[in-house]
Amino acid sequence: MDRIRIVGGNELSGSIPISGAKNAALPLMIASLLTDGTLTLENVPHLADVEQLTRILGNHGVDYSVNGRRPKQSEAYSRTVNFTARNIVDTTAPYELVSKMRASFWVIGPLLARMGEARVSLPGGCAIGTRPVDLFIDGLQALGAGIDVENGYVIAKAKNRLRGNRYVFPKVSVGATHVLMMAASLARGETVLENAAREPEIVNLADCLNAMGAKISGAGTSTITIDGVDQLSGASVRVIPDRIETGTYAMAVAMTGGDVLLEGAEPDLLQAALDVIAQTGAEITPTNAGIRVRRNGAGIAPVDITTAPFPAFPTDLQAQFMGLMTMAKGKSHITETIFENRFMHVQELARLGAHITLSGQTAIVEGVSKLKGAPVMATDLRASVSLVIAGLAAEGETLVNRVYHLDRGFERLEEKLSGCGAVIERISG
Ligand code: UD1
Repeated sequence: MDRIRIVGGNELSGSIPISGAKNAALPLMIASLLTDGTLTLENVPHLADVEQLTRILGNHGVDYSVNGRRPKQSEAYSRTVNFTARNIVDTTAPYELVSKMRASFWVIGPLLARMGEARVSLPGGCAIGTRPVDLFIDGLQALGAGIDVENGYVIAKAKNRLRGNRYVFPKVSVGATHVLMMAASLARGETVLENAAREPEIVNLADCLNAMGAKISGAGTSTITIDGVDQLSGASVRVIPDRIETGTYAMAVAMTGGDVLLEGAEPDLLQAALDVIAQTGAEITPTNAGIRVRRNGAGIAPVDITTAPFPAFPTDLQAQFMGLMTMAKGKSHITETIFENRFMHVQELARLGAHITLSGQTAIVEGVSKLKGAPVMATDLRASVSLVIAGLAAEGETLVNRVYHLDRGFERLEEKLSGCGAVIERISG
């Protein structure tokens, strides 16, 4: 299994191109199931999760082709990919495929809307809490679907087409909002989703569906209205820049010091996180080319955060922010409200010398003046990158094991960081 070796202590300086967002690319790819036309997605990141979803979609009958690369562009860069589901050949998403990635469960929405049936295995994904699917089931039932759960599969049926309805989410869910928006696009009549997720990835999907002929308004607010249409067509859509990758590298610079341009990053996608990073003492400057992050000399100020749905501080940056706070000048409180059990990075950060105590949903971080490199274990996608950030600032060598988690969500991580002066390499095998 590959490992990442880091020798910490260098400041970061230079520029890092920000990739297309994994969490936007996945639902956009799934939207290709809604039409027999071709959905062309630009800026698709080259990631293990994208490859895995391509395999899952292929099982349902989706063909894909990758457009030509620009000269000198390596295979690992974000690409333009065409997805065509001319015919759906299978409405079952099997356990072997879905168990590897939670988001693949979302195929249930388009399969049900287009084919009148779907049989989808209960999901897997990062081990960060129980992550049930009750909201998906509830919401699809509100649109008239009959649902049974049998032998680990959710079996959804709507023989006479889904019907528009009003549905109030009892809890904000990104995935369930994606799925209901896709399903309602092909339902008969109007659907109103209340307490919907407002994440930028929801807006990216709504824009895509509208380009395909859907009639969706209000995406980005908590009330989304969808006027169902009879069919959708192909379209061409660009994946938004990855706000989690942006925030991660911004926090890396805030921790090591230095001066880095995050090329192509958009501040509006993560304003709450940027405000917090600025409070820690880094200078954040939006420019025409992206976001410039600088920290010279002065120490890291402690800041308390609480994760919450967009536009608040994202749970997917919580672990990285904890990494940054381990070297703050004082005590900070980090409260996680989205997922239970999302503190598995705490014991690994402690191996590097961090002082962190847990009290329920809050981690109390007592900043230390230095961290020392050590072997650590990546436990989930975002947790593993928090260990990379801490390793960049730690004295000596850090070895991050189980890096397949990183490959699920960070495109060319070692290359991007070593291009800015970090000593970081992948050790194969
Ligand atoms: C998405 C993101 C993930 C991010 C999360 C929260 C993708 C591919 N993944 O995950 O990176 O951390 O949003 O911003 O975009 N819940 C239920 N019942 C359900 C569905 C969800 O109780 O049926 C709960 C979850 O357990 C969690 C909360 O709702 O506590 C929010 O989860 P949700 O927004 O659905 O996360 P995902 O869409 O899975």
